[in-house]
Amino acid sequence: MTADDVIKAWDQADPTAIHPLRQVSEEAYWEAGRAQADMLATVIPGNAKVMDFGCGDGRVAIPMAEWGYEVTAVDASQRMLDRLWKRAPELTAVQADADGVAAHLGRRRMDAVYSLAVLIHHSYSDCLHIIGKLRAATKIGGILVLDWPVSDQPAEADSWIGVTTWSRQQQADACAEIGLEPVDSGLPWGVYRAVKAGVGT
Ligand SMILES: C[S@@+](CC[C@H](N)C(=O)[O-])C[C@H]1O[C@@H](n2cnc3c(N)ncnc32)[C@H](O)[C@@H]1O
Repeated sequence: MTADDVIKAWDQADPTAIHPLRQVSEEAYWEAGRAQADMLATVIPGNAKVMDFGCGDGRVAIPMAEWGYEVTAVDASQRMLDRLWKRAPELTAVQADADGVAAHLGRRRMDAVYSLAVLIHHSYSDCLHIIGKLRAATKIGGILVLDWPVSDQPAEADSWIGVTTWSRQQQADACAEIGLEPVDSGLPWGVYRAVKAGVGT
């Protein structure tokens, strides 16, 4: 699967595919987003300029804006963004993939970037490419929260809905190369501080 294949598949996916809780109830789905925003707020400083990369229909971006963060919600799928806009027309939402983020930001950098349930669907090389772009979009010292799972038996996703997992060594090498310093957080995702490339981990 290329990144374009993954993006196309999500654009055409039924909204119920975004998260398993959507098949339980709409209330459970949005409540899970609020709970994840509460967790993000434990590591992202108040009032930060934050990017939600692969925001979907705003499950987490909307409650993050309610927390008071200045949220830029980014997704490659226009259909997803249309759903987000319907629910939260005031939110800044941008249609872009990882390469398009730089064009949108220009010289601006985010205080924090998070990406949930996005990297997991990409190949190793696309995932590294995306993380590099997200790191470049973040100020030095800023926070990245990445849903970037580790496994003792790492494997690449074989479909748009599959999950790519990484070995600890693969991640440590990637962090050093990209410029990410792991932060001890207790959260179910990887939390990193943006540092100069070559000095992380
Ligand atoms: C499983 S959904 C997760 C949505 C949201 N992060 C959440 O947790 O509810 C994955 C989203 O990421 C978007 N996406 C996947 N790969 C992407 C990429 N390379 N660039 C931009 N968006 C991407 C898809 O369009 C989809 O909206």
